[in-house]
Amino acid sequence: MTTHATPAAATSHAAHITDQFTRQAEIFARSRALHCKAALDLLVDAARPAPADVSLDVACGPGSVALAFAERVAHASGLDATEAMLDQARKAAAKAAIANVSWHRGDAYALPFAATSFDIVSCRFTMHHLEQPARAFAEMVRVCRPGGRVVLCDAMASDDEAKAAAFNAMERHRDPSTVQFRTLGYLRGMFPAAGLPPPDESFFAVPFTLEEMVTRSFPVGDDREQLRATLAAAIDGDALGMDARRDGDAVRFAYQSVVLVAVKG
Ligand SMILES: C[S@@+](CC[C@H](N)C(=O)[O-])C[C@H]1O[C@@H](n2cnc3c(N)ncnc32)[C@H](O)[C@@H]1O
Repeated sequence: MTTHATPAAATSHAAHITDQFTRQAEIFARSRALHCKAALDLLVDAARPAPADVSLDVACGPGSVALAFAERVAHASGLDATEAMLDQARKAAAKAAIANVSWHRGDAYALPFAATSFDIVSCRFTMHHLEQPARAFAEMVRVCRPGGRVVLCDAMASDDEAKAAAFNAMERHRDPSTVQFRTLGYLRGMFPAAGLPPPDESFFAVPFTLEEMVTRSFPVGDDREQLRATLAAAIDGDALGMDARRDGDAVRFAYQSVVLVAVKG
């Protein structure tokens, strides 16, 4: 089943989202670091899926999280604002012959589902693209049933304010649809603010080389040289808080990431 709700009225931020994720869709879908089994299992296991459950992944992108849930639940849904991402998701589902999945075009701020519709509601690597993360999170909580699990996953900014500021400046240049990566404390605090108990937490890192990051990015003004220079300069003192280091000819980084999960009361 596919629905075609119209995402919220276009704003310049929404235009950045559409532009970036239409251009990124194919290369984003191919990233092993983002869609490897270990990273997907960490999130799916944290949600403690049961065979009769129905799940929703908000801002599903190319669908890897929804498809990982589909193997463990009765039915999995994925919702995203960007049609090119949903195209990737449909292709991935067809390739894996997974049929218990639905894709929906829509807006994380106005989920087109009744309250308490899902046993599991997840959202991965998207809060940093949202201008109003608490509003989207409230929607996730609304559509989760009591006793269901709400799962939030994102990369984190360092607790060191200078590193966090440098990281966010680099990311906004690298991908202008980025609003802000938040700290662990901020993400954790979203749970009690939305009426949920304190979340359980699991940590992981998503590794990239400098050249992979430059190749997969569509920076402001297509200025890849500035991006390359900023990343190379970040090795000294780990200026971005990304565990930057030389490894032979390569420069390696990692997005420090967290999965937070709580049961809705
Ligand atoms: C970095 S990608 C993450 C994709 C996927 N969650 C994953 O982890 O592989 C961010 C996704 O958020 C989607 N997105 C951004 N703002 C959205 C909104 N307001 N409503 C729905 N989707 C949105 C984009 O279209 C994009 O597919």
